[in-house]
Amino acid sequence: MTPSLLNLENVHTYIGLYHILQGVSFRAERNRITLLLGRNGAGKSTTLRTIMGLWPASRGRISFGATDVFGRPTSDISRLGIAYVPENMASFRTSA
Ligand SMILES: Nc1ncnc2c1ncn2[C@@H]1O[C@H](COP(=O)(O)OP(=O)(O)OP(=O)(O)O)[C@@H](O)[C@H]1O
Ligand SMILES: [Mg+2]
Repeated sequence: MTPSLLNLENVHTYIGLYHILQGVSFRAERNRITLLLGRNGAGKSTTLRTIMGLWPASRGRISFGATDVFGRPTSDISRLGIAYVPENMASFRTSA
């Protein structure tokens, strides 16, 4: 069976002393658009940062295709072809 494009299983992430992600699991399939919805502070950005290794997960499993990315540095993860565009970084010019 072809692995999912992205697969999170029982992912836990701490920010300092705070246990922010408490067992996050989902799959993003190839050729599909996957939305992560939730109220303010639900953990969407933390989930994306965890996938990128910017807030490293303390336990669980994260795979990109057949590659296990849990515990890998952000530089390695981005080289696999995963990108994260932060919401407040003014990545694109909005005026000339
Ligand atoms: N640097 C930090 N230090 C401490 N707690 C944090 C930090 N960043 C996020 N949190 C906490 O982690 C939880 C999840 O925040 P996160 O930013 O992932 O939510 P979000 O779903 O992206 O929210 P929003 O819709 O406002 O973007 C919140 O309770 C937030 O206060
Ligand atoms: Mg956010």
